[in-house]
Amino acid sequence: MTQAKLIDGNEFSAGLREQITARVQEIRDHHHVIPGLAVVLVGEDPASQVYVRNKHKRTIECGMNSFEHRLPVDTSEHQLLNLIEGLNDDPAVHGILVQLPVPKHIDAEKVIEAIRPDKDVDGFHPMNVGKLASGGLGLIPCTPLGSMMLLRDHLGSLSGLKAVVIGRSNIVGKPMAHLLIRESCTVTIAHSRTRDLPAEVRAADIVIAAVGQPEMVRGDWIKPGATVIDVGINRIALPDGKSKLVGDVNFAEAVQVAGAITPVPGGVGPMTIACLLRNTLTACARLHRLDIPEAKPWS
Ligand code: GUN
Repeated sequence: MTQAKLIDGNEFSAGLREQITARVQEIRDHHHVIPGLAVVLVGEDPASQVYVRNKHKRTIECGMNSFEHRLPVDTSEHQLLNLIEGLNDDPAVHGILVQLPVPKHIDAEKVIEAIRPDKDVDGFHPMNVGKLASGGLGLIPCTPLGSMMLLRDHLGSLSGLKAVVIGRSNIVGKPMAHLLIRESCTVTIAHSRTRDLPAEVRAADIVIAAVGQPEMVRGDWIKPGATVIDVGINRIALPDGKSKLVGDVNFAEAVQVAGAITPVPGGVGPMTIACLLRNTLTACARLHRLDIPEAKPWS
């Protein structure tokens, strides 16, 4: 059997970052504005530290200002909300991201709701969630946005296709389903209580796996020729004591059946940061009323 086409997120995200860099340069030269992203990290979660470091590096690389706020783990909710209030009012800051998870004594929902919706580059504020659901022009969560860019690039129109989203998180599953509905897909949202998950997946032309279970989706669940977007990033231990990253899809099996598939690493992962930069540029352009093609960011 022929192998699936690999959807290369490294290549696509590099192209996107190049476009963003050019746009940032243009805005600097013609409007004397430098887009700025503020990233807030509370505590010392090792995975979050890696993410925040990468975000800082990529933000600087594309010519934007990066404002990093690393706060100790015992920072109070009140202190964090005060910092966000300051960033909301700071004209040099166009995007605000509070890295999740926050420590247990802080209410993440309160924190998300404190961020100005027009600076909420994560797209998690209820105002942006509502706009995505109702077809309005808000800010779209980065991982679903990046996944949709890859899908549109590979398939062109998605109109009429059947899509299954495995996972119903606020960060990926639910916003991904809304984006697919916007593109006129027929959408099923599957989750841990779904009765016959393999049957739901077998019916789908597009499979979005976002459950956080290493290699859970098996090759014989995939409809031949389907497009598979693997959002999972799971670190698993190997017998020799080393470890490796795998997705939520059993890649070795699925690649024999699918029409196209994103690898892990190198698929959706690099798209997330590129879309964060894209959202920061979008927020900056809207705040300064600059003209950028933003109605459908992936077209
Ligand atoms: N932690 C894991 N993913 C995300 C994300 O997309 N945004 C934020 N703020 N934190 C995260």
